[in-house]
Amino acid sequence: MAGDGAEFTVAVALLPLINQLRVGRISMTEHSNNDIVEQKIKEGVYIRTIRSFVKREGRLTKGQESALENQWPIMGLEHKDGLIDLVAVFGNDNPVVAEIGFGMGKSLVAMAKAAPEKNFIGIEVHTPGVGACLLEAAEQGVTNLRLYCHDAIEVLADCIPKDSLSCMQLFFPDPWHKARHHKRRIVQGAFAQNIRSSLKIDGIFHMATDWENYAQHMVEVLNAQEGYRNIATDGDYIERPEHRPLTKFEARGHRLGHGVWDMMYQRVK
Ligand SMILES: C[S@@+](CC[C@H](N)C(=O)[O-])C[C@H]1O[C@@H](n2cnc3c(N)ncnc32)[C@H](O)[C@@H]1O
Repeated sequence: MAGDGAEFTVAVALLPLINQLRVGRISMTEHSNNDIVEQKIKEGVYIRTIRSFVKREGRLTKGQESALENQWPIMGLEHKDGLIDLVAVFGNDNPVVAEIGFGMGKSLVAMAKAAPEKNFIGIEVHTPGVGACLLEAAEQGVTNLRLYCHDAIEVLADCIPKDSLSCMQLFFPDPWHKARHHKRRIVQGAFAQNIRSSLKIDGIFHMATDWENYAQHMVEVLNAQEGYRNIATDGDYIERPEHRPLTKFEARGHRLGHGVWDMMYQRVK
């Protein structure tokens, strides 16, 4: 049964929810590194893909720990609370920019500080990164930022209202560069469509990577999707926009001599 990529369906279950019945099927994939990931097909809709991350918690610094304790009640959003009302969350109806996988959050906080006329939502699974981001936000006096510490696939499916975001940012996602791990890349067709439905019409999906092969993959996936327009006017990529600060992984890419590719796709329908 074990073995790289071996898949088996383990159950078909009826999941009674509050006022409706949902048919769920769980399938599991066992990977060579023995992590088990679950895929759930709910009401015929594929809502979850193979995980794009491996949990590596590491230790929290004292600063991260106290930021989690003191700032989470102010800036934290919980996946278990379900669909959010953006106006209620931020106390205004300013445009909302979301970012998936903000890492330690320094560049996200810099963007939020530089654009007080917008609201920002960061989604990250790495708890020390969330702690670091809360700490930086508090130090910078940033108030237009809220964070999820949860898998973005589930936050998108369950919490972010449809047609609501002005921009979704995905900067330097894990490249999963071995061919047998490409299925773990977060950018896939279903993901692109979930992002599209969270965006307003004319909203932007902004991606950046320092792996050329992943950039090509992003373009290939996004170009094949209905409802998006690549806003690049010269080829597939755009100049790095000035409003995007250097991220930690981008700086690492520079040190390794990598190039950087920025892509912006606009929701057209
Ligand atoms: C390579 S790091 C890049 C971090 C940051 N954007 C930067 O450029 O420095 C990718 C980040 O995405 C996060 N991540 C991966 N899959 C995720 C998911 N499904 N939901 C939320 N965060 C995710 C990882 O925990 C990691 O911190």
